[in-house]
Amino acid sequence: MTGSSPFSLEGKVALITGAGTGIGRATATMMARTGAIVVATDRPGRSQALDTLVGAITREGRRALALELDVTAVRSMPAVFDRIVAETDRLDILVNNAGTQLFKAALDIEEEEFDAIMNVNLRGAFFCAQAAASVLSRGGTIINVCSQHGVVGNRDRAPYCASKGGLINLTRALAVEWADRAIRVNAVSPTYVQTESNAALLQSPPIRDDIKNDLPLGRPVTADEVAAAICYLASDAAAGVTGHNLLVDGGWTAR
Ligand SMILES: NC(=O)c1ccc[n+]([C@@H]2O[C@H](COP(=O)([O-])OP(=O)(O)OC[C@H]3O[C@@H](n4cnc5c(N)ncnc54)[C@H](O)[C@@H]3O)[C@@H](O)[C@H]2O)c1
Repeated sequence: MTGSSPFSLEGKVALITGAGTGIGRATATMMARTGAIVVATDRPGRSQALDTLVGAITREGRRALALELDVTAVRSMPAVFDRIVAETDRLDILVNNAGTQLFKAALDIEEEEFDAIMNVNLRGAFFCAQAAASVLSRGGTIINVCSQHGVVGNRDRAPYCASKGGLINLTRALAVEWADRAIRVNAVSPTYVQTESNAALLQSPPIRDDIKNDLPLGRPVTADEVAAAICYLASDAAAGVTGHNLLVDGGWTAR
């Protein structure tokens, strides 16, 4: 085990997709504070958000670097992962956090809209995992950020529910297949998360009512609460855990 505590990420290198905001940024910050060298990645056009994040981590005396990684650009992935290993010597943790959503009635969803959700949330996560698996160090780990909506259905989110449900079972399949490479693969599935980009959405009547009536904790979870679950699964404290979906759902699916 590395570090003084099994929860320490000291000596590990962690790549986070979609790290510019929200859960990705909280995870990058918490991983750096727990000792990891952070490779913060996001899609094109997000370099300013990444630079702000890397600046904040560096000011705290930790090491981080920013890289562009569009999870839909599958052919570019091996080169990106090779470059990361060239710059950091190793890769121990991949957090497949990049995600997108669409609120629309199932009857109205166009083919391109369905594909756009799948391409980022499911296909993108799979090909990032595949590119990472060929360079991950022994004992390396992958955490897929899924959703309570991958476990239960809900109206006006059919492609999102399908993509996250697919990602949860992809997590199990990769955990089984890559166990003999000593790679652990797990999922974290949040309920509604309070982030800087969705404050208005959480106040909109259907979601506000969902939270009030159906979420036992009675409040959205925070990005830091999700990041803490991701950090646990990334750490040696979870060395015996693979193929698991850790719900950070305020009790939503316990009802
Ligand atoms: N916020 C919530 O309520 C909530 C709940 C459950 C699950 N999630 C999941 O958590 C993850 C993070 O969500 P968030 O709330 O922080 O959202 P967010 O919109 O703040 O962050 C999503 C990130 O993904 C990036 N991204 C989008 N397309 C990409 C692409 N093609 N390549 C690389 N990066 C791309 C965005 O640039 C952004 O940085 C997502 O997978 C989301 O589905 C969020």
